[in-house]
Amino acid sequence: MKIARFSRIGFILAAAGSAVGLGNIWKFPYIAGEYGGGAFVLVYLLTVLLIGFSIMIAEMLIGYLGRRDTVTSFEELAPKSKGLWKFGGFQAMAGLLIMTFYSVVIGWIFNYIITSLSTLPATVEQAEQTFGSMLHTDIGTQLFYHTVAFIWITYVVNKGIKGGIEKMNLVLMPMLMVILGGMFLYAMSLDTFSKALDFMFMPHWEKINANAFVVAVGHAFFTLSLGMGAIMTYSASLEKNSNLVKNAFWVVFLDTLIAIVAGLMLFTFLYQYGSGPAKGPGLVFISLPAAFYEMGILGNIFAVLFFIALAFAGLTSSVSLVEPMVQYFIDRFGWSRLKASISMGLFFYLIGIIALLSNIDGFKDSLTWGDKNFFDWVDFFTAAVMLPLGGLVMAVFVGFVLPEEQVSSVMKSQLTWAYPLWRFSLRYITPVAMVLVILSLVGVLS
Ligand code: TRP
Repeated sequence: MKIARFSRIGFILAAAGSAVGLGNIWKFPYIAGEYGGGAFVLVYLLTVLLIGFSIMIAEMLIGYLGRRDTVTSFEELAPKSKGLWKFGGFQAMAGLLIMTFYSVVIGWIFNYIITSLSTLPATVEQAEQTFGSMLHTDIGTQLFYHTVAFIWITYVVNKGIKGGIEKMNLVLMPMLMVILGGMFLYAMSLDTFSKALDFMFMPHWEKINANAFVVAVGHAFFTLSLGMGAIMTYSASLEKNSNLVKNAFWVVFLDTLIAIVAGLMLFTFLYQYGSGPAKGPGLVFISLPAAFYEMGILGNIFAVLFFIALAFAGLTSSVSLVEPMVQYFIDRFGWSRLKASISMGLFFYLIGIIALLSNIDGFKDSLTWGDKNFFDWVDFFTAAVMLPLGGLVMAVFVGFVLPEEQVSSVMKSQLTWAYPLWRFSLRYITPVAMVLVILSLVGVLS
């Protein structure tokens, strides 16, 4: 059995590395932009606080008590009904599904690091054109960088929890924080910083609707890496007597801080040099490069650094998306780590090619169903359906299925006065919110 354990700082950085990802820097600013800023940000922050934080602790607890891969952990903790609860563990599949498009986006980022070294687009139209032609016509470039991402991620996962995942996070996470922190300080010196503050924190309630609520909750799960067993798998390698509440606090805090810092910085640059909070997924690939262009050579430096930070964020998240299934095949089937890493890697790599092709002219039509292509369906289905469902399962499991003495023996001393609140959130607030999300999705879908 594996004995490798995270150090305390190693665990916090690895879990924060999982949480801080493309979700924080690529997705959060553009969905905040789409839903009008302030009010949306408020709903998201409340979700993180009321639901995200409690599920983070619950997910850590399952891993910490179960000590095995996600499927086995559920089985061991509910021996009487393991045939049912083991399905909670198969949620880990969501990680590989997310990886199919995640790896393609990391590929775009690699490409943007290289191209930003020499040229930036002079106008938003030009930036749109560059991004569009990569996305819709350039199979070669996308495939090349998708392959680089696949090799990098598989290499690190193959090195294991200690020698691969912890080590990479100990290096990349501090670098990411330094880069973003430095750029944020520069943004604070610009006079449009206050406009960005306004946009992020002044609520415009008229822009909030049921859809925004669903997106905010789905995003809270996605950005905190909840609901699929990534945090659970890492927690199985925690030292005995770890303080789950303190760990969870640090992860939630760092993730939220970095999303806000990244958002404020991006919006400041976009107000100062560009087109304002432009809409859609193209924000960091279209509006931002054009804004950097206006800054001259400093813009090139910022662009390269920014995309490096974004790549680091993506890579540290990727290993946490792959590790749960790797762990599962090692634990349950006795596979070697090498065999498990390569097999899981190939799985997301090959299906990732379909995601990639589903944006390419000529393939697009046969890979589109309804209003979404393959790429968008995987994104939507995992973030909006699978993760909230996984969260619901975990909340109910810890709230109702695990014997109360087992839960309170670990959590009561750590949570002290907040223990009843946490339990209440798991038993009532979270399940109701999850059911609402899933119901409104059915509405959105039909
Ligand atoms: N949290 C990451 C992000 O914000 C993505 C991610 C990593 C994730 N591991 C996860 C999402 C597990 C859900 C579940 O980009």
